[in-house]
Amino acid sequence: MKPQHKILPVRCNVEIAENVYKLAIQHDCNSSLMKIKPGQFYMLRSWNREPLLSRPISVSSYDGNSISFLYAVSGKGTELFSTLKSGDNIELFGPLGNGFNTDEIRGRIAVVAGGIGIAPMMQLVKELSSSCDVDLYAGFRSEVYGIEDMKGYVKGVFISTEDGSTGTKGYVTELLEVEKYDMVLCCGPEVMMMKVAAQCSEKDIPVLLSMEKHMACGVGACLVCTCKTKYGNKRSCKEGPVFWGKDLVIE
Ligand SMILES: Cc1cc2nc3c(=O)[nH]c(=O)nc-3n(C[C@H](O)[C@H](O)[C@H](O)COP(=O)(O)OP(=O)(O)OC[C@H]3O[C@@H](n4cnc5c(N)ncnc54)[C@H](O)[C@@H]3O)c2cc1C
Ligand code: FES
Repeated sequence: MKPQHKILPVRCNVEIAENVYKLAIQHDCNSSLMKIKPGQFYMLRSWNREPLLSRPISVSSYDGNSISFLYAVSGKGTELFSTLKSGDNIELFGPLGNGFNTDEIRGRIAVVAGGIGIAPMMQLVKELSSSCDVDLYAGFRSEVYGIEDMKGYVKGVFISTEDGSTGTKGYVTELLEVEKYDMVLCCGPEVMMMKVAAQCSEKDIPVLLSMEKHMACGVGACLVCTCKTKYGNKRSCKEGPVFWGKDLVIE
């Protein structure tokens, strides 16, 4: 679907965990929503001048009349998002990026998320639930979020926290046995994704990784977001953010 620029009203913006918000935006264009792929993102802005750039945020889920995002407050832009109230306007440009191609995902699937990397996995598990057996692996520092909405769409749920407050103490990569799956789908901090990619490479399991590189333009023009692949540098915002693990150069 061709990216579109829209100014739309906020439906609700609620803090679901410390510094993590769910933002739902009214979007009554049913047919265009259905063409968004899980893993695609929008450039969002709710300010006029500063900060200069819009911020890339993954589509978390959508239905007939709203589109939702999950974001962690990490700087000026997300701090401004956190002040939005129902009825305020927000600018969206998208959908952008390639997203997950759900037609090529089949069989036993491990969806692996680290922290706010859970965001794009929500719509993904919903769409895969009718055609695949999905297990969810989610790792957090301490507070767990976003899982409840996904439980109805997955078979197994494996949670880790670094402080042991919920689930297994440690990193989610320690729970994952990639050889049990036909394919692994992953989004989270780069260090976690590189570990998952290495585990999959060792056992020859295909893995798709959503590489959330720093971005500026979001439309392929500035080359800020490049990823090293075996076929040269690729733009995360255009050829990605979803890449096959086997294509990436892991340093
Ligand atoms: C394709 C894509 C999808 C994304 N989806 C989400 C999402 O669904 N929810 C969400 O909360 N965030 C998401 N992000 C990350 C988000 O865009 C950045 O954290 C953004 O910079 C926040 O803006 P800010 O002004 O609040 O913070 P900034 O002032 O821009 O940055 C705050 C801190 O975060 C660091 N940072 C900036 N961009 C990234 C990045 N891509 N990865 C890691 N650290 C970064 C900066 O170096 C700085 O230390 C996504 C990023 C990309 C590229
Ligand atoms: S953010 Fe500009 S090319 Fe990707």
